Amino acid sequence: MLGRLNHVALAVPDLEVAMQFYRDQLGARVSAPQSLPEHGVRIVFVDVGNSKVELMEPLDDASPIMSFLVRNPGGGTHHVCYEVADIIAARDKAKIAGLRILGDGEPRIGAHGKPVLFLHPKDTFGTLIELEQA
Ligand code: CO
Repeated sequence: MLGRLNHVALAVPDLEVAMQFYRDQLGARVSAPQSLPEHGVRIVFVDVGNSKVELMEPLDDASPIMSFLVRNPGGGTHHVCYEVADIIAARDKAKIAGLRILGDGEPRIGAHGKPVLFLHPKDTFGTLIELEQA
């Protein structure tokens, strides 16, 4: 069911500092920042050719990545996102396998305007996995 790696998402405490680092120190192509109020984050995408790195900072204290940054004040790897051909089929297969889906179990629209869902990291060896409809 698993397709290509769509992106790796890194939580950062300061998006401006992180995007400057990727652009100026690492020489990467970095998109313009976009705020995603429905996800509680402000993000940029770093184009690394075969995939993307998403840098995210919390929009406010209620952001879902806030607790992650409290545990990891310097930032860190927040999740990896894989593409799936059929998000509903992938969800049902995950459920049958006993994996917990975060939230109400229904896909919602992710940062790229496509349906996504997240698998509970305690069921996936400690890494939060996002599945995105290809
Ligand atoms: Co993501």
